[in-house]
Order: sequence, then C-alpha cells, then structure tokens
Amino acid sequence: MTVIIAPSLLSADFLELKTDLQRFEGEKDLWLHLDIMDGHFVPNLTFGPTVLKSIKNVCKHPLDAHFMVTNPDEHLEWFKDVGLHNFTFHWEAVTHHDRFIQKAKTLYKSVGISLNPSTPVSSIAPYLLKKVDLILLMSVNPGFGGQSFIPEVADKIIELQKMKIQHGLTFQIQIDGGVTDKNAQALIAAGATNLVAGSFVFSEPQKNYGARIAQLR
Ligand code: DX5
Ligand code: ZN
Repeated sequence: MTVIIAPSLLSADFLELKTDLQRFEGEKDLWLHLDIMDGHFVPNLTFGPTVLKSIKNVCKHPLDAHFMVTNPDEHLEWFKDVGLHNFTFHWEAVTHHDRFIQKAKTLYKSVGISLNPSTPVSSIAPYLLKKVDLILLMSVNPGFGGQSFIPEVADKIIELQKMKIQHGLTFQIQIDGGVTDKNAQALIAAGATNLVAGSFVFSEPQKNYGARIAQLR
C-alpha cells in the first residue's frame, strides 16, 4: 500500500512560500499539511482562510487541514470555500461528535479525527470510526513543529490498526509530530498510512525536499 507523505507547512520558509511549494511539484501521494492554530486550544497562532486560498492557487496537491482550535464548528463554515481536501478536528474540542462529523461530511470530501497524545484510542466509539476517513494520532503535544516523537504513541497505532481490521474499515492512520527517517519504517509497519513531517522535510540543507520524502518512504 502506498504511504502518503504530508509535509507540514509550519516548517516552510514563509518569505519564500511559493518557491518552497513549487519544490513539491511532480511528487506523487503527497498531501500538504496545514496546521490551523487559534492561540486557545494550543499556545500558538498560524493562518486562516485568506492565506489558504492563496496557497490553493499554487499548490495542486490535496490540502490537509489540521484544526487545533476550540471552536471547530465555526471553522467548518469559515474554511468551506478554500478547497480543502481533508478537515481534521480535535476529538477533545468537540462534545457532540456524531453531529459534528455529519455536518463536516456535507462540506468536505474527507473528515478526520485527531487525538492528543494522552487521549486513548478507545475514546472513539467504533460506530464513529466507520464515519470518518482519517484518524490523526498526535505524536507530540500539539502547537509547535520540531519536537521529539513521544514513543508511547507507537502502541496507539497498533491498537488503532487492530480496531481497523476488526471492523473491516479503511480510514487512514496519520501520524503527526517528530516523524523522521529514524522512525518512519516502524510507524508504517505498525499501521500508519499517512506521515506528517515538518522539520524533517524542510530542514534539508539544499532544499531538496524530494530527497527527504524519499527517505521517509
Ligand atoms: C504540531 C503540528 C505538526 C507539526 C509537525 O502541532 O500538528 O503538524 O508541524 O512538525 P514536526 O514534523 O517538525 O514535528
Ligand atoms: Zn498537524
């Protein structure tokens, strides 16, 4: 099975964003990961729909938005015209998950649930696993790029993969935070189908991002 690599824009060169994004042209099975942070759910701020619309104009890869916000319901509306492929919300930020997912599915092609490192996989009722396209397991505390992978998250991948097989489901298992060439192979072996990588991809000294993506694969 082909693994999707999702470079996280958070680590890109914001003064050279267009040039940086053009470096991904021609890459297959690549999503662009966009971290939306509100300064409440996480202690950081990033970008909103205006910036993302400009990115959509120069990036032909699927846009994968990860909403680290306390009010994802409002964000469903604010971002609906951006042309996002995937909308991932944090499980911890929503009370009525089923209702939220139903609404999200009317606005976005793909909908994902994200779990903080300390939120157990078993929090998600199996009937809701059937309704989403992706589960994002945070492998750092959300808010910043460049942190170290939390090793205990590896067990959550195995547990989620078991639930996926048990219920005959096809959702993607995305891992976000501290992904490098040192742990990618083990993550894929455990069941990950989609790897987010920010600092590892964008820190390539010659800006040869394709080389870093190939290393992850
Ligand atoms: C952190 C973000 C990540 C971050 C990953 O809250 O969700 O997407 O950009 O960055 P690295 O790969 O550097 O850990
Ligand atoms: Zn992210």
